[in-house]
Amino acid sequence: MDKLQIQGGQKLAGTLRVSGAKNAALPILAATLLTSEAVTLSKTPHLQDVTTMIELLACLGADVVVDERMNVQVTAAQLTNLKAPYELVKTMRASFLVLGPLLARHGSAEVSLPGGCAIGSRPVDQHLKGLQAMGAAIEVVDGYVKAQAQQGLKGADIYMDLVTVGGTENLMMAACLAQGTTRLYNAACEPEIIDLGNFLAALGARVSGHGTSEIVIEGRPELGGCQYQIMPDRIEAGTYLIAAAITQGSIRLVDLQPAALGVILEKLQQMGAQIKTGDDWVELDMQGRRPVAVDIETSPYPGFPTDMQAQFMAFNAVAKGTATIRETIFENRFMHVHEMNRLGANIELHGPSMAVVHGVEELKAAPVMATDLRASFSLVLAALVAEGTTIIDRIYHIDRGYETIEEKLQQIGAQVRRVS
Ligand code: UD1
Repeated sequence: MDKLQIQGGQKLAGTLRVSGAKNAALPILAATLLTSEAVTLSKTPHLQDVTTMIELLACLGADVVVDERMNVQVTAAQLTNLKAPYELVKTMRASFLVLGPLLARHGSAEVSLPGGCAIGSRPVDQHLKGLQAMGAAIEVVDGYVKAQAQQGLKGADIYMDLVTVGGTENLMMAACLAQGTTRLYNAACEPEIIDLGNFLAALGARVSGHGTSEIVIEGRPELGGCQYQIMPDRIEAGTYLIAAAITQGSIRLVDLQPAALGVILEKLQQMGAQIKTGDDWVELDMQGRRPVAVDIETSPYPGFPTDMQAQFMAFNAVAKGTATIRETIFENRFMHVHEMNRLGANIELHGPSMAVVHGVEELKAAPVMATDLRASFSLVLAALVAEGTTIIDRIYHIDRGYETIEEKLQQIGAQVRRVS
């Protein structure tokens, strides 16, 4: 099993290009099932999760061609199979996003329940409730969601009980081919939802309000093809900003949308980073200073993203002062705490959703284990400043969501290599 070996203590500096966003690419790939015409996606990130989604599309009968620059062409002219098997859905929850498109286009779909996940129970009740409101008959049999809408889906007013990114995406996609108008209330507002909405519009869908909590979609009988560029990954960008900042270094990121980073940039500034932004770039400079502790509480966009919580915990671990970190989105997203403490951090857990981080002056290398995607990178961040050589085991978690991690880190001066 691959491991990362990191020699801590290098001050990072340099320029990096931000990759396409995993969390935009996955729903957009699922949405290619809505049309029989060819769709070409550029800036698709080269990641394990994207490979899994491509395998799933192929298993359903779509024709997928990937060129050497990761332009992905999908033609779902005819689907030969309407069942998304457990083997593919269990490795990645986003596979569940094929339910809406399959059901809307073919009136029938069978998708494995995603099941439990390390960071929390993560139910799909809101996805199902919304599809039922659109007229689908749904039963859960032997771990599979079996959905039928032989007469097609019908537009509906849907009030979501909580803000869910995946739920909003599944229902947006389904509504594009429903008869009549769908209104999604309490919809998620994440930039990746805007990207999905823009992609659907490029296919010819009538969608408005994406990026606000009320999305309106007028269904159409069919959609066409398009060429589309996936938005830049704001979480990858935020993570590399911290990589430079935690070493008290500097970085310039290019090819990104600074506005989508929102509160991430604000928190970095509060912690002492000097930040400059332009149309498609961000520069960060810590000017050799130790960060100052800042409290964090996760919440749906535009609040602080749960996908940046672990990285900011690593940054706070070496800050001046004490920070409280509250996780409100997932109930079990502090698995990195014990591993960080093995590196010499001083973090106390107060129940499942609150951690108190007492900043220390120094971390020390130790063998640690990656637990989930973002948590894994928080260990990389800690290792970048730990004295000595840290080995991080189980890094397949990182490969699910960070493109060419060693190359990118080496490019800004980190001493990192993959070992087996
Ligand atoms: C997406 C992101 C993930 C991010 C998360 C929150 C993708 C591929 N993944 O995941 O990286 O961490 O948003 O920003 O885009 N919930 C329910 N019922 C539902 C659906 C969700 O109770 O039907 C709960 C979940 O258990 C969780 C919360 O709502 O506690 C948020 O989940 P959701 O926004 O749906 O996350 P994902 O779409 O799975």
